[in-house]
Amino acid sequence: MTEPVLQVKNLKVYYYVEAGAVKAVDDVSFDLDFGVKMGLVGESGSGKSTMALALMRMIRPPGKIESGQMILDGMDLVKLSEEKMRQIRLRKLAMIPQGAMNALNPVMRIDRQLVDGMLDHGVVMSKEEREARVGQLLEMVDLAPKVAKMYPHELSGGMQQRVTVAQSISMEPDVIIADEPTSALDVVIQRQVMDTINRLQQRLGLSIILIGHDMGLMAQSVDRLAVMYAGKMMEIGETRAMFRSPLHPYTRLLIESLPVLENKGVFSGIPGITPSLLNPPEGCVFHTRCPKAWDLCREKIPEFAEVQPGRWVACHLHTA
Ligand SMILES: Nc1ncnc2c1ncn2[C@@H]1O[C@H](COP(=O)(O)OP(=O)(O)O)[C@@H](O)[C@H]1O
Ligand SMILES: [Mg+2]
Repeated sequence: MTEPVLQVKNLKVYYYVEAGAVKAVDDVSFDLDFGVKMGLVGESGSGKSTMALALMRMIRPPGKIESGQMILDGMDLVKLSEEKMRQIRLRKLAMIPQGAMNALNPVMRIDRQLVDGMLDHGVVMSKEEREARVGQLLEMVDLAPKVAKMYPHELSGGMQQRVTVAQSISMEPDVIIADEPTSALDVVIQRQVMDTINRLQQRLGLSIILIGHDMGLMAQSVDRLAVMYAGKMMEIGETRAMFRSPLHPYTRLLIESLPVLENKGVFSGIPGITPSLLNPPEGCVFHTRCPKAWDLCREKIPEFAEVQPGRWVACHLHTA
């Protein structure tokens, strides 16, 4: 086994609001291995976007990285200066944003937007080299060469999202974080953009963290799945193994609530509501909704432990 490309250790990210600290990411740890695509799933408000922004070191006040480590390529991103972090974004670690429309500059042609990041990083290119690189990037995301001279509004939502994918790979980073990259697009287009991302991963050997709330969609394209709930990591494992035998009751409920073909579109959901992250329940954060909870679950926070090789779970059923 090689060293992971990214290691997150005991990461805490809180937002300080008037009523107190919102524990959006609370003591989360995981590894991402080279060339692996990991899906990060969880209900809305579970801390997925906060996790992504923390990795990019883009948490803004009232948010703050409280403690923990994010080790990429031997460097702890938590400790890096803003200047050093600027050098690392795009070059080592890049993010595909959720809304392509907002991420692109409406008054700038696509070719400019594709090379801007490279120029920011001091890449020196002749006009010919620039054109060649733009052509190559467009080809990699399955866009026609003529897109280079177009403006964002001339492109469909799917094409715009492809441009942001091209931007994200322009400096050939090791790790790409995609926060619900296709959720604003219709299902057919989502599939196509996902296919492109999958092929790029193969071609460039990328490691990817793909964030989403649709576990079913996710399951079709990720090697590993990480399940978050109320700021905590609940379970991580190989996708098929997670579906075959979910260990955490929350993972099981998520899988069982997936719409199946026979009752198409009917999403049963999980009974109960997500807890307040200002004042999370004592013990296991999931105990208030967990069908298997007992006394211990109400008292003691379960340790996030590796219970089988590559399989991690935070549940007293498996670690007590
Ligand atoms: N800027 C902010 N200020 C205060 N609370 C925030 C802010 N951003 C996110 N949160 C809170 O942090 C928690 C996690 O949010 P988020 O990371 O967006 O979750 P997800 O992406 O899984 O939906 C939520 O309770 C949310 O309300
Ligand atoms: Mg989010």
